Amino acid sequence: MIPLKRRKVTTEQNASHANSAECKFPDVAIFIVERKMGASRKSFLTRLARSKGFLIEESYSSSTTHVVSENNTGDEVEVWIKKQETEGKVSSSSVSLLDISWLTESMARGSPVPIQDRHRLKTSPKPSELTPVIIMKSYACQRRTPLKHHNLFLTEALEVLAENAEFSENEGRSVAFRRSSSVLKALPYIVRTMQDLKGLPCLGDHSLRVIKEILEDGTSSEVESTRQSEQFQAMKALTGVFGVGVRTADRWFREGIRSPLDLIDTGQKLNHAQQAAVSFRLLGVQYYNDLNTPVTKKEAMVISDIVEKAVKAVLPGAIITLTGGFRRGKEVGHDVDFLITHTEEGAEEKLMPKIVNYLENQGLLLYQKTTRNSYLESKDGPARPPSNMDRFERCFSIFRLEQFKVDCDTSVKASLDSSGTTDKNEESYSGSSWRAVRVDLVVSPYSQFAFATLGWTGSKLFERELRRWAGQEKGMSLSSHALYDSKKQCYFRADSEEEIFSHLGLEYIPPSERNA
Ligand code: UTP
Ligand code: MN
Repeated sequence: MIPLKRRKVTTEQNASHANSAECKFPDVAIFIVERKMGASRKSFLTRLARSKGFLIEESYSSSTTHVVSENNTGDEVEVWIKKQETEGKVSSSSVSLLDISWLTESMARGSPVPIQDRHRLKTSPKPSELTPVIIMKSYACQRRTPLKHHNLFLTEALEVLAENAEFSENEGRSVAFRRSSSVLKALPYIVRTMQDLKGLPCLGDHSLRVIKEILEDGTSSEVESTRQSEQFQAMKALTGVFGVGVRTADRWFREGIRSPLDLIDTGQKLNHAQQAAVSFRLLGVQYYNDLNTPVTKKEAMVISDIVEKAVKAVLPGAIITLTGGFRRGKEVGHDVDFLITHTEEGAEEKLMPKIVNYLENQGLLLYQKTTRNSYLESKDGPARPPSNMDRFERCFSIFRLEQFKVDCDTSVKASLDSSGTTDKNEESYSGSSWRAVRVDLVVSPYSQFAFATLGWTGSKLFERELRRWAGQEKGMSLSSHALYDSKKQCYFRADSEEEIFSHLGLEYIPPSERNA
């Protein structure tokens, strides 16, 4: 060890000694590459440069700042440098690779000239070196996915295709696009070339084709034609009607209906659930604009206070948690989701009707539909295939939210013809004294609260991946009620989300990083 070290220091000292007497520019340490130049020209240039006060190094070292060569390409010099490095000479990462012209111009001027682009040797880009090597796990629940990411231009496009696949009830295809999109959301860098995708999981041929087209041409023809297509636009508009799913929207589309306005014109009926509650004029279409205007965090907070007050009034000591997208840190959402429980098991029974009653008496509900808790823990484990529909006592509702400030975007509201509205509710469109907001209330027994919190925080893909991980990797079955080990035939208990991740053998991912 010691002799080696000493030898190195001595070489460097010798090198600088050779120059020190006459060196005028000690900060510019030049190394001349002999390759293709030849030894005699190199020694001629070295002598000449030294005589003019330049610091010419005997050997390439960590102190070298300028590497000068003749008739070599940048790539060739890089290869040469790499070789020196593997032979134990450390390089400075900021070394400049220059053509001999820089040295000859500098000598002519008597001092180092500023480096211009023409002096620099051109090297081809090496994406694999520019891109940090990251190891991306293949299940979304094994990764951290922040809300704000670097590849929106790609994920938006892939999600148009995912949505379109949902409209034709092609779930496999839709999930494939969502998984691809989710991988890009978890990347810590912007994707600029296909090289940047090397080694990433979940990117199928179709997704890769779309990404390639966007990287090369700026847009994908398939995505653009989907966006423009009459069917896609109509399905988006029709599924935007509260309570209308893909099946109904698709039937309407085939019947020639293109927008909620056509529904009014043709006097179509909604499905029985909706008819039983109230006609579409009073719901889906009437609140169409409100329910398609994103709910802000501020509005979610106001609703949070209202719900908290109502719940505490009917069951003191109850715990209310804001779940869904807002818990993951989203600034806007399509609805506001709440989970309600009480530490005393059983105290939560029959709670929902009381909450609903309280809210109705205050005139806060425009619509509500409550379903009872139908979950029963079976000794033989959960039903198969495990359903992802949960069975909590749940209330789908539409809140009548007083507008606390006239700062909402009224332009969206003005876009729908008011012919479908009744006088009583016209102010919802003309703006401003109140707006309709979708609110989901869910009541969970305390023993299931951790599972319910995890299940209702989302994102939807994150939840899907958690269940897939549980089933495929762990032989377990996860729902918003419980975690069941199929091999050991037993249920796991958990008091917190952290415990559930741990039962699943996963690193804990906080809500803000579940935006898969
Ligand atoms: P949302 O549909 O409300 O989504 O479901 P979100 O993430 O809050 O997004 P926006 O902003 O409202 O659009 C919230 C979570 O609740 C679960 C879903 O899996 C999702 O993760 N959920 C929803 C259920 O478990 N069951 C349901 O019937 C509905
Ligand atoms: Mn939500």
